[in-house]
Amino acid sequence: MKTQMLSKLILLGIAFFYASIVFAQHSTPWNVPRSAKEKKNLYSPDEPSLSRGQKSYKIECLRCHGKEGKGDGSSAMKINKTVADLTSDYVQNQTDGELFWKISEGRSPMPLAKHILTDDQRWDVINYIRTFKKK
Ligand code: HEC
Repeated sequence: MKTQMLSKLILLGIAFFYASIVFAQHSTPWNVPRSAKEKKNLYSPDEPSLSRGQKSYKIECLRCHGKEGKGDGSSAMKINKTVADLTSDYVQNQTDGELFWKISEGRSPMPLAKHILTDDQRWDVINYIRTFKKK
């Protein structure tokens, strides 16, 4: 009788443990304001913009998002959250304004880039991550 109770408790404990992992990975949706979604990127994705974007990406994003944006950077393993795959439709189907807002505000463990990169640099980074879109 006692061992039955104990094994039930252990099972319950394991269930909670996995539930918390799943919860941590599929966290709540981002609350992007409508006005932010509609914001336009003033920079066309020309060569100078892309090369500026690549430079910022290498310094500020690559360690988590990886060289090709797949979310497999060297720091990604150390994070207890799935690093977004920037090549995915989920990311690529968002507007520039939406990505701009998310990158600017960040969400732990992703740092908020608005204090790290200027507005111009963030728009360039968005142009750059558009090059990760699957062909
Ligand atoms: C410390 C690691 C880390 C760094 C550095 C980082 N990110 Fe992220 N990024 C993440 C994680 C983790 C998520 C998932 C966050 C979430 O869903 O709460 C994410 C999510 C995203 C998303 C997807 C948001 C969505 O729609 O769910 C974009 C776009 C993004 N990052 C771009 C960038 C860019 C651009 C940079 C550099 C300026 C950057 N990230 C730097 C870890 C990082």
